[in-house]
Amino acid sequence: MLGQDMVAAAQGAGAEVTAVDREHVDITDAAATLAYVRSLNLTAGDVVVNCAAWTAVDAAEEQEAAAFAVNAVGPQNLAHAAALSGARIVQISTDYVFEGHATTPYAEDAAMAPEGAYGRTKAAGEWAVRANNPDHYIVRTAWLYGAGGPNFPKTMARLGGERDVLTVVDDQQGQPTWTVDLADLIVRLVAAGAPSGTYHGTAQGAVTWNGFAKAIMAAAGLTARVDPVSSAAFAAKAPRPSYSVLGHDALRAVGVEPIGEWAQRWAVAAPSVLG
Ligand SMILES: NC(=O)c1ccc[n+]([C@@H]2O[C@H](COP(=O)([O-])OP(=O)(O)OC[C@H]3O[C@@H](n4cnc5c(N)ncnc54)[C@H](OP(=O)(O)O)[C@@H]3O)[C@@H](O)[C@H]2O)c1
Repeated sequence: MLGQDMVAAAQGAGAEVTAVDREHVDITDAAATLAYVRSLNLTAGDVVVNCAAWTAVDAAEEQEAAAFAVNAVGPQNLAHAAALSGARIVQISTDYVFEGHATTPYAEDAAMAPEGAYGRTKAAGEWAVRANNPDHYIVRTAWLYGAGGPNFPKTMARLGGERDVLTVVDDQQGQPTWTVDLADLIVRLVAAGAPSGTYHGTAQGAVTWNGFAKAIMAAAGLTARVDPVSSAAFAAKAPRPSYSVLGHDALRAVGVEPIGEWAQRWAVAAPSVLG
């Protein structure tokens, strides 16, 4: 989902882009990843953006080794291969690296304390990138939606067209973030020559899934009622953060404007995401 918009954003910025998917390179295969990156003849100033990940949060609880291979070993292989070419690596990470029960936004340097397997593997991926390539951006994002993948707005819009009443959790707060905005932020970080480090690539503000579902109904012109429900009503395998809102001070400190407020960005994104 992010990869498609990343390619478009980089091309839009005038970069020469090579896009690759799992069919051609399995990032868990160190030798194949190294050979592929070598074949690109990258040099200093070039950037490898890793949009690949194991994103099935609940499945990771039962297949943590497989998730670790993609989310930690894969980034290690890419960071190492990029470093050998003198290129920068951009690793996409997640709010799930945090415990997720704060009351104020997480700073970029807040301690990682993942509660579930997905978060553990993504936290390991961050460290693997830091350890293997000093020239890196770790960009943490959350609640991603975009035209190129299944996601919460598409599911809600479908259900809202089928039912009169939806029940959606109102005890988890986060930052719905458009993949187009995240891709644009990564392009702007690179263009600004921002120093290596950890940045938060989420929209500003915060909302519950319930509040976001209401905004989706409004954008889709649907009249389904959206009732609140507690997370306890859903027996998800992986724990869900109640508050995993991310702060954006590191971006501001390097003169890069964070993504806008979630509701304003959703208003812009909705037509292309919902189709
Ligand atoms: N979606 C969210 O709400 C969210 C929230 C926070 C952070 N993130 C992070 O944001 C990034 C982008 O997420 P997304 O939602 O765009 O992910 P996505 O749509 O699930 O795409 C992940 C891609 O990675 C590929 N992939 C999986 N294993 C691979 C391997 N071994 N080698 C090469 N490619 C492999 C997948 O290929 P197949 O389709 O063939 O499996 C898929 O194309 C990820 O780092 C994710 O952890 C996402």
